[in-house]
Amino acid sequence: MKRSGKWSILILIILGLLIASALAACTTSQAPAATTSEQQASEPAPTAVPASPKPIVVEVNRNVGAINPTSSLAITRGMDKVAQECVSCHAKETPGIVNDWRESRHGHVGVSCLDCHIVNKDDPTATQHETLIGTDTYISTLVPPSRCAECHPNEAEEFDHSGHHRAALQVEGKDAMQKLIHHHEGQDNPEFNNASQETGCMQCHGIRIELDDQGNPTPETWPSAGIGNVYPDGSVGNCTVCHTRHKFSIAEARKPEACASCHLGPDHPDIEIYENTKHGQIYAAEGSTWKWDSAPDAWEPGDYRAPTCATCHMSGIGELTTTHNVSERLYWNLWGKRSKVRNSNDPMSPLTGDGEQGRAKMKMVCTSCHSERMTDSYFSHGDKAVNLYNEAYYDPALKMLNDLKDKGLLKENPWADEFQKIYYHLWHHQGRRARQGAMMGAPDWAHWHGFFELQQDLYRMQDIYNYRIENGKIEEP
Ligand code: HEC
Ligand code: HEC
Ligand code: HEC
Ligand code: HEC
Ligand code: HEC
Ligand code: HEC
Ligand code: HEC
Ligand code: HEC
Repeated sequence: MKRSGKWSILILIILGLLIASALAACTTSQAPAATTSEQQASEPAPTAVPASPKPIVVEVNRNVGAINPTSSLAITRGMDKVAQECVSCHAKETPGIVNDWRESRHGHVGVSCLDCHIVNKDDPTATQHETLIGTDTYISTLVPPSRCAECHPNEAEEFDHSGHHRAALQVEGKDAMQKLIHHHEGQDNPEFNNASQETGCMQCHGIRIELDDQGNPTPETWPSAGIGNVYPDGSVGNCTVCHTRHKFSIAEARKPEACASCHLGPDHPDIEIYENTKHGQIYAAEGSTWKWDSAPDAWEPGDYRAPTCATCHMSGIGELTTTHNVSERLYWNLWGKRSKVRNSNDPMSPLTGDGEQGRAKMKMVCTSCHSERMTDSYFSHGDKAVNLYNEAYYDPALKMLNDLKDKGLLKENPWADEFQKIYYHLWHHQGRRARQGAMMGAPDWAHWHGFFELQQDLYRMQDIYNYRIENGKIEEP
């Protein structure tokens, strides 16, 4: 599929050039928006909407990058009057948005504001601008992934099979987490107990977005930059976290910064881990000179010298095709309390993915640049570290916890109990850092922020455990 895509890529490039020149012709004669912010400041964008040009119908071949070899998509070049009005008025009202859109692939192929924001009158999110009142055009502020899926069905389906899909759903159902958010972090404050959710969890994980009686999203649930938003129509995800609106650029999503807003910090320091690797070091030294905008599945070593997060977890490379399922190339679950091998088709399962196949695919990434011997030896180091964590740290910690629980020697509030706090840090912070640092080749995180801290945790837990068992009571603080 991949190789036969070459002709379609060529065809697309030719089409692209045609479209670009058509667009250039359109924009010079009738562009509603100014090109630079300076121009914008000095000469206001024209508001009059020119007559629609003769529509150019472009057949976009969907066989690029094995996206969807069977379907094709018709784009009408000449946007209708309503669509043009969105652009011309918003060029004044929200010039940043219009500028991003104009520079995007969507802008180039004529996917307009209306294509994403239009909804039926009876849609619960339907609203009307003052200028739209009296017309039959209704728009929605929210653009759920189901809308993107109308034109990009495969990306959305792959996303729905990934661990990203469950990011908000899994937080919703869990009492302990709701208690952490509202009771412990929110201190049951009558007005502000949701603040830590709105500024924290939700901005990474997402939330179930709710509507007010006007059809607008409520301030408690929007804006949410989280990856697993649940939209009023039931569709799940947030396509704007890696390729941000309104540019929707693959070049942006391929850079490690696209993942860094969420994959950082004490409990999953993936960007810090990356910076600690040779790959990250090479990216920092010369990434600005790499080619970032090759077509999907045609972005290959040579365009770049070292892999980014996307290269290893998502992009096509060698015989591997691009995927929006970030769980597809994984072997272990490395965030859980004890690491197990992935073996489930259910995106709601912590073990979503197929461990054996995941490992084989990840190795295909490495062997595009490294030898098989180096790759195999590398993974034997990492797996050893994960097994060491499981057996030498997690198992004994859990045994002590269960003993104390049986004997009634745990405080009811886990966040005010020294033993339970260290237990949490052992698996959730230090333990993840050791495992993820080891599997992603970051010695500082595997060792100093990982195993070194783990042995300290274990010794401290053993002291507290011995005290409680010997004295039959919880120590004074
Ligand atoms: C005559 C001017 C005008 C036209 C035409 C217009 N808009 Fe707007 N639009 C606005 C203004 C003003 C706002 C409010 C901006 C603000 O809150 O700062 C807005 C807000 C929006 C919002 C955000 C709503 C919210 O509550 O956050 C969306 C989405 C939007 N417009 C889309 C569109 C689309 C799609 C079209 C074409 C059908 C369109 N607009 C046409 C002026 C216009
Ligand atoms: C490819 C789809 C797409 C296109 C094309 C598009 N939008 Fe959006 N727009 C989105 C998405 C996604 C959001 C985020 C909404 C959400 O949180 O669900 C959004 C949000 C917005 C918002 C509210 C958020 C903010 O940042 O203020 C405005 C206003 C808006 N769009 C205006 C426009 C205008 C004007 C155009 C045309 C120049 C446009 N959009 C074209 C997808 C699109
Ligand atoms: C009406 C159809 C349509 C809708 C709706 C749509 N797109 Fe697109 N999108 C296209 C077309 C056509 C292209 C250009 C051909 C291609 O690259 O596949 C494109 C290209 C892209 C690209 C590649 C950009 C690049 O740098 O090459 C991304 C990413 C993307 N869309 C994301 C989205 C997201 C996210 C949404 C929803 C918020 C969305 N699209 C909604 C039709 C659409
Ligand atoms: C907006 C926040 C956000 C961004 C951006 C983001 N992620 Fe995630 N990611 C998450 C969250 C939250 C989870 C945990 C989901 C869960 O299990 O609840 C996650 C989980 C994962 C997982 C583990 C999935 C599993 O099955 O356990 C991988 C791998 C991953 N992300 C890779 C990436 C990569 C690569 C990028 C960038 C290209 C990225 N993420 C961008 C928030 C994000
Ligand atoms: C800075 C972004 C960020 C914030 C804030 C955040 N998380 Fe996460 N969370 C992540 C990422 C990324 C992962 C995936 C870790 C991995 O794969 O190693 C994750 C993993 C998880 C997991 C394990 C995955 C699963 O499916 O069970 C849970 C549970 C979780 N987070 C709950 C929360 C809760 C509850 C909050 C707020 C009290 C929160 N998170 C705040 C980014 C964040
Ligand atoms: C975790 C980050 C992330 C999220 C979330 C994400 N994308 Fe992407 N997307 C990427 C990356 C990285 C690429 C470039 C892959 C490559 O190197 O070819 C990409 C490429 C694309 C492309 C170009 C064609 C292709 O498949 O490579 C489209 C279209 C697209 N994304 C649409 C979507 C849609 C629709 C959603 C929501 C369902 C979405 N993306 C969510 C990271 C993301
Ligand atoms: C050189 C390839 C490579 C790069 C670059 C890379 N990763 Fe990884 N990543 C891996 C491997 C290998 C694993 C462990 C897979 C396994 O389970 O065997 C992993 C594991 C993960 C996990 C843990 C999933 C879990 O089960 O908890 C997350 C999250 C993740 N990576 C995110 C990222 C992010 C974000 C970046 C960029 C900042 C990144 N990765 C860069 C190869 C890479
Ligand atoms: C795009 C090519 C590319 C890919 C893909 C790639 N690497 Fe690398 N890697 C490099 C380059 C370049 C270096 C720095 C030169 C060197 O030391 O070999 C490097 C360095 C390393 C190093 C440090 C070696 C040393 O002796 O300094 C390790 C370990 C490594 N890579 C492991 C991996 C693993 C594991 C994968 C797959 C999960 C992978 N790499 C994928 C290009 C790549």
